Parts: sequence; C-alpha cells; structure tokens
Amino acid sequence: MRKIVIAGNWKMFKTQAESQDFLRDFLPTLEETPSEREVLLCVPFTDLNILSKSLHGSRVQLGAQNVHWEENGAYTGEVSAPMLTEIGVRFVVIGHSERRQYFGETDETVNLRIRAAQKHGLTPILCVGETKQQRDNGETEIIIINQIKRGLVDIDQSNLIIAYEPIWAIGTGDTCETKEANRVIGLIRNQLTNPNVPIQYGGSVKPNNIDEIMAQPEIDGALVGGASLEAADFARIINYQN
Ligand code: PGA
Repeated sequence: MRKIVIAGNWKMFKTQAESQDFLRDFLPTLEETPSEREVLLCVPFTDLNILSKSLHGSRVQLGAQNVHWEENGAYTGEVSAPMLTEIGVRFVVIGHSERRQYFGETDETVNLRIRAAQKHGLTPILCVGETKQQRDNGETEIIIINQIKRGLVDIDQSNLIIAYEPIWAIGTGDTCETKEANRVIGLIRNQLTNPNVPIQYGGSVKPNNIDEIMAQPEIDGALVGGASLEAADFARIINYQN
C-alpha cells in the first residue's frame, strides 16, 4: 500500500510570528482529515525550531527545504542532517527546481544530499521536473528518467518520497493536465525498484484542482507551494474529497 503524503512547501515565506498565526487557523482543520493522510510542513530553517515545539502532539510532521551532505565543516550557509534531526525534523525537500535553477544544484549534489538525509533517518523528498522548453522539445521523458537515475544512485528506496514538479507549472497557475501528471508519475514509478515509493505531484496545486489531482491512480499526494501559505487553502487541500 502506498502512503498518501501532502506537503506544504513554504519556500522563503513566513517569519516565526507568521508561522504561529498560520497554525492557529490551520491545526483545528486537521480534525476533518482522514487519518491515513500524512501532512507535512516544509518550512524555512528559522521556523523549524518553533514549529517543532508548536506541532508537538499534533499529526503534522516537520520538513526542511535542504540539507548538506557533510555532518559539519567549513560550509558557510549550510545546515547538516544532525542539526535538523536534533530539533525534530523528519523530512527534507531535496533538489527543488528553484535550487537547481538559482543555486547550482545538480543531480550529483542532490544524490549526496539524499544519502546524508537517509543516513541520519530523514526522509528525503526528491523533486524532479522538466522546463517548458524541454517539454516543447519532446524531452520530458528523458529529462525525468535521467534526474531519477542520477539522483537515486545507491539510494535506499524504502525511505523516500518523490515529487514530480513540471517547472512550467510552479507558481504560474498553469497546472499540468492531471492525466499527463499521472502519466509521467507512472513513468517515474517504472524506474523504481520499490513500487511503493509515494510520488507526489507539485505545481500550482490549489483548492479547486486538488480533488481531480488526487483522483488520479498514480498520484500519491501533493507538494504545495503558494497554496500552503494560507491556512484555509491548505486545509481544503489536505481535506480533499474523493
Ligand atoms: P506552487 O509551488 O504550488 O506555488 O506552484 C510548488 C512547489 O514549488 O513546490
């Protein structure tokens, strides 16, 4: 049985004070959420400690948005896996397209980060996705297959989540057709040795399209950016109707 995992990705949004305002409105809405759905919030490093305390005793689990591959060292600006696990972080987004595009992340560094995350008991959320140009050139399949193959060299697939996020659909309101997202996610699953790895869709997931997205047989959840910043929107997403 594949798990259903809905994750909010706050990106570089919300101070600690704003994170507390969000939780005040959001946490009560979990009462309606079916128990088999896993709910995560992947937040800026500065919010992790306070959220770890505020989420204690709730069913929302905590994720970071990056992790370095060394345990410590002269890597100014980076954060290591033991630093995250010490404060109760359980998940980490790795290889988000914004990190690949703006911060030079490659399949090789993604692979190193996944290894380090798993070694310390974190569950990595590996993000893959093609650009508009790659899609228009008919390269979607080869790009995705390469990102999966290179990102997952020597990786334990029993503690892993994958997110398919077509880059042209992120933050644009231009959601990928749900059947097409389902097709690409099926293609990703064919590359895996463990068929039970949860595979999410990400890219302009909103309250008005989540039901249709989650109705697709290959899609096991969502990675939600903009719509995870508003408590009411994210509540509607985790409480999607099937
Ligand atoms: P979006 O972002 O929902 O705002 O499109 C998704 C993501 O980048 O994870």
